[in-house]
Amino acid sequence: MSGVGGPPIDADLVVAIAAARAAGAVLRDAFEGELTIEHKSSEIDLVTTADRAAEAVVLEHLRRAFPDDAIVAEESGAHVGGARRWIVDPLDGTTNFAHRFPHFSVSIACYVGATGLVGVVYDPLRDEVFAAAAGHGAWLDSPRHDHVRLSVTSRDRLATSLLATGFGYDRASTATNNLAEFNRLLPKVRGIRRPGSAALDLAYAAAGRTDGYWEYHLAPWDWAAGALLVREAGGVVTRMDGGPWTLDAPSIAVAGAALHPALLRELQAASVAAAGPVAGG
Ligand code: IPD
Ligand code: CA
Ligand code: CA
Repeated sequence: MSGVGGPPIDADLVVAIAAARAAGAVLRDAFEGELTIEHKSSEIDLVTTADRAAEAVVLEHLRRAFPDDAIVAEESGAHVGGARRWIVDPLDGTTNFAHRFPHFSVSIACYVGATGLVGVVYDPLRDEVFAAAAGHGAWLDSPRHDHVRLSVTSRDRLATSLLATGFGYDRASTATNNLAEFNRLLPKVRGIRRPGSAALDLAYAAAGRTDGYWEYHLAPWDWAAGALLVREAGGVVTRMDGGPWTLDAPSIAVAGAALHPALLRELQAASVAAAGPVAGG
């Protein structure tokens, strides 16, 4: 994190922040109360009444302000509209939330095609708003931070780096379960965290609270806002194989420019080793 400077007064950003704060208030209240928990794709993939209630609040804000825009939201799916598309995860970190582990967020971004316009990740328990607008940078607002400009770290050695990662709900059934990558990197770095909210993992990389982050198999709503935050904080965003990251990419790897090549080298070496010897080779 570095410097102080005002974010642009942008209608998209103002609405996205208001929507994220309102949904966050719903989550904050629900976190202490009784929860109804259901399973989605499997017993470890959960949805709670709070996910749905927070999503309804976000959608209400977006529809009121931008009735012509399209929306894709995790719990209610696609809502048709024009070229601008809002991408919403009303509660990123549902497993944490359901277990009363206090680390989760609301993630809201607006894209036109593959281009991110604005992105907001809100942590309701710490009251931290991470916001980015394309071409204008990324900021943190909280009770302790007044429009503080975000910047990724300039660290260049894995040995002194703190990284974050995550493991998808399909980890019991996929070969790309991230264990090979985790095992390879763990002895080479200062530490690896698995906080449980991909949107906050990206926001923390943007804020320089970690030096890098990687994960397989996320959905557009998990990383749409966070990837823009990292880019606007001066970070490099690619797939784990080094290819260009998109909303539908199979993976993500982010870090400051000085560390990113070393991170990719280790991730690629791990996935080659996990794939085993090439047949006939
Ligand atoms: C999950 C979180 C988690 C990541 C999972 C995501 P959800 O989102 O971002 O950190 O590892 O792959 O699906 O289900 O809590 O919205
Ligand atoms: Ca999510
Ligand atoms: Ca979610």
